[in-house]
Amino acid sequence: MLDVNDIHVTYGRLRALKGVSLSVKEGEIVCLIGPNGAGKSTTLASIAGGVTPHRGTISLEGKPLAGVGPEGIARLGVSLVPEGRHVFGALTVAENLRVATYMRKDRSAIAADYDRVLALFPRLQERIGSPGGRLSGGEQQMLVIARALLTKPRLLLVDEPSLGLAPKIVDQVYDILLAARKMEGLTLLINEQSSHRILKHADRIYVIRGGHIQLHDTAANLQDGEAIKRAYFGFGEEAAIDEEDAA
Ligand SMILES: Nc1ncnc2c1ncn2[C@@H]1O[C@H](COP(=O)(O)OP(=O)(O)OP(=O)(O)O)[C@@H](O)[C@H]1O
Ligand SMILES: [Mg+2]
Repeated sequence: MLDVNDIHVTYGRLRALKGVSLSVKEGEIVCLIGPNGAGKSTTLASIAGGVTPHRGTISLEGKPLAGVGPEGIARLGVSLVPEGRHVFGALTVAENLRVATYMRKDRSAIAADYDRVLALFPRLQERIGSPGGRLSGGEQQMLVIARALLTKPRLLLVDEPSLGLAPKIVDQVYDILLAARKMEGLTLLINEQSSHRILKHADRIYVIRGGHIQLHDTAANLQDGEAIKRAYFGFGEEAAIDEEDAA
């Protein structure tokens, strides 16, 4: 479904991505894991069209996304849930959700989608009239995911949904993502800083560090966490990478 091939991204003189390649097949949950500053958000932003790689290609179902732009990419069925849980604090949960559907042209289908998506989020239903700013971190995370689902994506990109949430809440968020995959036929690419709770949910894992993919394999092959740890911290590889950076 998604093919990212050797993309390079710079911010001014900083090389954030130095040749990132990854692929996501229809129906998969793929997780991109890496430490602070590894290039996770830049990778998702590149796919969603918010950042333009100066080298490499990204294609969706074989169709190159270069020049399509963020709105066009969204129309092709790609939705990004950015890091930071940006909800409209003064708007109610219901109003926050309604904002997501303004772009849609199929007005008649919206009511049914609204009911179906909300059914995945009993906690949001309970808080439907509360201002977004009053929600807990976990509820806000659910709200931004619900909002993204209302745009009817086929590929959902989720940037660090676990950040700062208690383990129990993280599991709830993942349960919802898994249920959404099943119900909506979603494909998921998820960024996380830690593989801790992700290994049991993902089909495949990529580890990124320093703008490079260090490792990728099925979650089943990585269950013991040792290979991930080595790739994440780069034991024994620092010298080689520093040399390449200097070149
Ligand atoms: N808008 C920007 N302008 C300049 N540098 C940026 C910008 N966004 C990211 N960077 C830099 O690019 C590199 C990759 O950042 P990115 O946000 O993609 O990493 P990340 O893996 O998402 O990190 P985190 O876990 O902290 O969210 C970092 O060195 C970061 O400081
Ligand atoms: Mg990030």
